[in-house]
Amino acid sequence: MSRTEKTFLASKKQVSCRDEKFEIYIDRQAIQTRVQEMGLAISGDYEGRIPILIGVLNGSFVFLSDLMRTITIECEVDFWKLSSYGARKVSSGEVTELKKVDANLAGRDVIVVEDIIDTGLSIEYVVGRIHEYGPDSISVATLLHKEEATESDVSLDYVGFRIPDQFVIGYGLDYGQLGRNLPEIYVRVDK
Ligand code: IMP
Ligand code: MG
Repeated sequence: MSRTEKTFLASKKQVSCRDEKFEIYIDRQAIQTRVQEMGLAISGDYEGRIPILIGVLNGSFVFLSDLMRTITIECEVDFWKLSSYGARKVSSGEVTELKKVDANLAGRDVIVVEDIIDTGLSIEYVVGRIHEYGPDSISVATLLHKEEATESDVSLDYVGFRIPDQFVIGYGLDYGQLGRNLPEIYVRVDK
């Protein structure tokens, strides 16, 4: 194995992002195992139907691409782009719609795919908007859920990991747009 391959395979215990320190929190193996379980659960639940996965951009695209490849039934994919964070670490609660879904969702089985549910305001907004298109069903799949921070009562059908109210990056999640390319999930180290 070349040196580059070795470097790629080893997890970095600590990384810094925008001058803050983060440490490894959920490693590649744990993510892969859990995502596979979620994909198999979805495949069983939707057997005989063709669900459409709606990825909420930007954060969900890494999770969505892995999740999709563990789903063993036919499915479609489309994206919705929201922005609520800017470069802050705390959710502003204000949701801006930057790109709407192109597919016709009337009569469809929709699975909204999120990277993380924090206050729950973004997912509540998206689910509300999707309802307006008259789908047959809507469910939500999220990789992470900050249970204690969630103010909304939107039901979450597929949850990868329940985590405390701490700031995380990697595997699609960013800090001011950086950190999305980290292959594993890192948590901010308090000073
Ligand atoms: P909510 O509307 O407060 O639930 O925020 C959801 C969105 O905030 C997620 O889709 C992420 O884009 C972002 N977010 C929430 N917590 C974190 C975090 O710990 N790291 C990075 N992004 C986060
Ligand atoms: Mg997001």
